[in-house]
Amino acid sequence: MTYQQIDHVGIAVTDLDSGIARYQELLGVSPSVRKRMEKDGIEAAMLDLGSTHVELIAPIGPESAISGFLEKRGEGMHHVAYRVDDIRAALAQLRGQGARLLDEEPRVGVMGHLVAFIHPKSAGGVLTELVEVHP
Ligand code: CO
Repeated sequence: MTYQQIDHVGIAVTDLDSGIARYQELLGVSPSVRKRMEKDGIEAAMLDLGSTHVELIAPIGPESAISGFLEKRGEGMHHVAYRVDDIRAALAQLRGQGARLLDEEPRVGVMGHLVAFIHPKSAGGVLTELVEVHP
């Protein structure tokens, strides 16, 4: 099992349209993907930079998974995602190390890849996502 690269950085924004406009201006790229994740109560947009991405995440309702984050911390850096070649092996390794996992099993993320989150308490204070890319 190998950690390959940073897949993306997740940034929480209160409004996706104005967040996209701001990052389009900053980075000079348009989102390649925009997707609503009803179950998580979020809408996300991916801006591609080389083989990595900036993921903008906005709530689509009061029940959203990031409403609490935005209330407490405001807009800004939300998580770091590492690309791994085998997400199940990575989760098993972390479980063996006693890490606190927010997803016991991988699930399908914004880009259609397999993803799983690790609690910040087990990752140096950073909400951490693992991504196994499926072409
Ligand atoms: Co992410």
